[in-house]
Amino acid sequence: MTIKTVILAAGKGSRMKSKLPKVLHKLAAKPMLQWVAESVADLNSDLIVVYGHGGERVKQSLTSFEVNWVEQVEQLGTGHAVQQATPYISKEETVLVLYGDVPLIKPSTLKAMVETCNKQTMSLLTVKLDNPIGYGRIVREDELVTKIVEQKDATEDQLIINEVNTGILAVNGGLLMSWLAALKNNNAQGEYYLTDIIEMAVNDGIAIETIQPNNEYEVQGVNSTAQLNELERYQQRVYADYFMQQGVTLGDANRFDVRGEIQKLGSDIFIDCNVVLEGTISIGSDVTIEPNCVIRNAIIEDNVTIKANSVLDDCIIGSNSDVGPFARIRPGTKLGSDTKVGNFVEIKKTNLGDGSKVSHLSYIGDAEIGKDVNIGAGTITCNYDGVNKYTTTIEDGAFIGSDTQLVAPVRVGKDATIAAGTTLTKDAPEGVLTLSRAKQVTFKNWKRTSKE
Ligand code: UD1
Ligand code: MG
Repeated sequence: MTIKTVILAAGKGSRMKSKLPKVLHKLAAKPMLQWVAESVADLNSDLIVVYGHGGERVKQSLTSFEVNWVEQVEQLGTGHAVQQATPYISKEETVLVLYGDVPLIKPSTLKAMVETCNKQTMSLLTVKLDNPIGYGRIVREDELVTKIVEQKDATEDQLIINEVNTGILAVNGGLLMSWLAALKNNNAQGEYYLTDIIEMAVNDGIAIETIQPNNEYEVQGVNSTAQLNELERYQQRVYADYFMQQGVTLGDANRFDVRGEIQKLGSDIFIDCNVVLEGTISIGSDVTIEPNCVIRNAIIEDNVTIKANSVLDDCIIGSNSDVGPFARIRPGTKLGSDTKVGNFVEIKKTNLGDGSKVSHLSYIGDAEIGKDVNIGAGTITCNYDGVNKYTTTIEDGAFIGSDTQLVAPVRVGKDATIAAGTTLTKDAPEGVLTLSRAKQVTFKNWKRTSKE
């Protein structure tokens, strides 16, 4: 049986007070619409997204999914929105209706809904709320659902009902299309309500099965940045709980954020406060990450310490290495094992061989550095002439004295020593000392200028 998932994403979201279409606002770094699309990934359903406001930007947002896009030019209500999708729906299919601004709906809940739905049964996701204001109320007679009334159309008796419509439902395509065609907009908001199909279903002898989510966050919609943040903090707590279930020790579960995908977590990991993990992350065993580190798309091998205030981006940190404090590791960098990158070092697109050290205040870019190399404080690779980038190569065992400028392209041979303060413009031969430095002179009779 094919399943069609219709995601309603045409609303403007004025309360977000933003130029960005609401469904593109991000939760844990991922647009809400993508969360919704991913929630049905396991159902193998065809996706139909009803868009309106912010058209092209919304269409460009789901690049990794195959989507049938339908435009709802005027937003005349949720029933009208689903009507726009009917060209993609056929009679025998189950149609699942989701909202683009309800991002944390769980795959297991949707699976239950789709499994409950058939030609005689429609499934409706409802939830009991302490404060049901604003939602459509589920009206029951003798336990059975008879209809949904919207807040603005409800009687005083109906307003007391605390079981509400989440908006999410699964229904047979043929039935849905016949009911959609019969919708009227004679209600308080002058809209075509999708919720009116419930009463039609009851009249046609179709059973309404209600299903409840595991928690309220699953069905919470986002209308404002404050509501978005409520879900963000909930989801971050979910990530923190996952880390702790894997045995990770956290400095503070509420001051630790994940904005991406965790591929590996070893044992005996300690992550201190205010660490942000972004993109694809893999962390080995016996790893310590000190406070205020931002780590993006990184593989951190075993027994590594990332010291406070370091920023890592698109890199591999080899085992038994130390990074930081205040280090910046930029894309394309691979640190070998037993390496050290110390404070105020920026390192970009560089291979640093096993056992090599750059301990203080350096810029190393576009470099191939061998094993057991020591790079002194203040060393700079001059890799850019204003137009092109060039490579600096430093072979195994070399010693680069402090405050050296390596003007690339340039090569330092194996076990070479470069004296402090050298500006290296030509290759330095292996095994010997190279220096370029003005001779030191002292002027014995020189006096500082003094005020008259
Ligand atoms: C809707 C339900 C209500 C339910 C509530 C849950 C109806 C009539 N009411 O009310 O029972 O309790 O959701 O949050 O369905 N949309 C479109 N095109 C439109 C109108 C809406 O794409 O013409 C989209 C919106 O972008 C949004 C979703 O549909 O993602 C819901 O629309 P909204 O206006 O928020 O409906 P509610 O009044 O909240
Ligand atoms: Mg709403």
